[in-house]
Amino acid sequence: MVTASFTPQPETLRPGIKAPVRETLLTPRFYTTDFEAIAEMVLTLQEDEIEAALQELRNDYNRHHFVRNDDFKRSFDHIEGATRLAFIDFLERSCTSEFSGFLLFKELSRRLKDRSPKLAEAFALLARDEARHAGFINKAMADFGLSLDLSYLTKKRTYTFFPPEWVIYTVYLSEKIGYWRYILMFRHLEKNPDDNIYPLFNYFECWCQDENRHGDFFKALLRSQTKLWKTWQSRLWARFFLLTVFVTHTLTVFERTDFYEAVGLDARQYNIDVVKNTNETAARAFPSVLDTDNPHFFPRLEACSDANEKLTAIANSNTPQWLKFLQKMPWITVIIWQMLLIFLQKPVDAEARRGLVY
Ligand SMILES: [Fe+2]
Ligand SMILES: [Fe+2]
Repeated sequence: MVTASFTPQPETLRPGIKAPVRETLLTPRFYTTDFEAIAEMVLTLQEDEIEAALQELRNDYNRHHFVRNDDFKRSFDHIEGATRLAFIDFLERSCTSEFSGFLLFKELSRRLKDRSPKLAEAFALLARDEARHAGFINKAMADFGLSLDLSYLTKKRTYTFFPPEWVIYTVYLSEKIGYWRYILMFRHLEKNPDDNIYPLFNYFECWCQDENRHGDFFKALLRSQTKLWKTWQSRLWARFFLLTVFVTHTLTVFERTDFYEAVGLDARQYNIDVVKNTNETAARAFPSVLDTDNPHFFPRLEACSDANEKLTAIANSNTPQWLKFLQKMPWITVIIWQMLLIFLQKPVDAEARRGLVY
């Protein structure tokens, strides 16, 4: 594979195979869970919704969608320098998170085969979609002279254990935020074709519908378990997971402003639009959501991003480790403090709204 002429070169394992980005709190994670507990979940409360979501997955609307067309035959060497690196970073993170979904769903399907055939079938179909997504992005990386070694990633990544409840909250949110990320990007490029510098984005409209369907399946799972929405603890968990997903999103978007600029998007506005829409959507599944209209909400999220930039600068400096640690402490405190302030903001009671709006 060709290593194109741009500088600086990203780190590679061997020619054309990109070394995974250094694992940080922001890199997409690989999850494992308590499969036994999922097998024992009683789903009667949402039987019809689960069946409907499963039928949507069976329909496989995108079975012919992920085929590279002639637009990819062009050279993308004109995407250079910092923009090229930001592109590669975007593709790598997207590929890793699609692949992480694939591994989790595949394992769930395998473990539930004999215990809960309906769930096993659904997870197999979810894995099918994520494998397509990851494979398609990996081919896109090849357009930039690189690819991810997915089997290396499978073996070398550390797996984080999440109890089933956390998996349901976080996967639901990551599917819905994925939907909004893709559709907002697509709509922007549809209106501004001159900014559409890479054909991958043309696939986002149908692609995001996959993510939407995945989210709907997880919504049915979530609503089938009353402890995930009917208890006071569930209200706290819901807000906590929304907060962590939004902080992570804000930090990664602000870290990658080069990429968003390259496609004509204002990173700050894009982040606001994605967060607001995801929060609004989550109100259909979660008992409680965040008040994104609170005037302090986005400034606090962005304060976390400012602190994160300082942390990155310290991490990349030549200062001795012990001093780095001391220099980092105040900025870590800023992030925790700002997150706590957002968490304590008056939330929106989604259950109360449900009877009125949905
Ligand atoms: Fe996906
Ligand atoms: Fe998905």
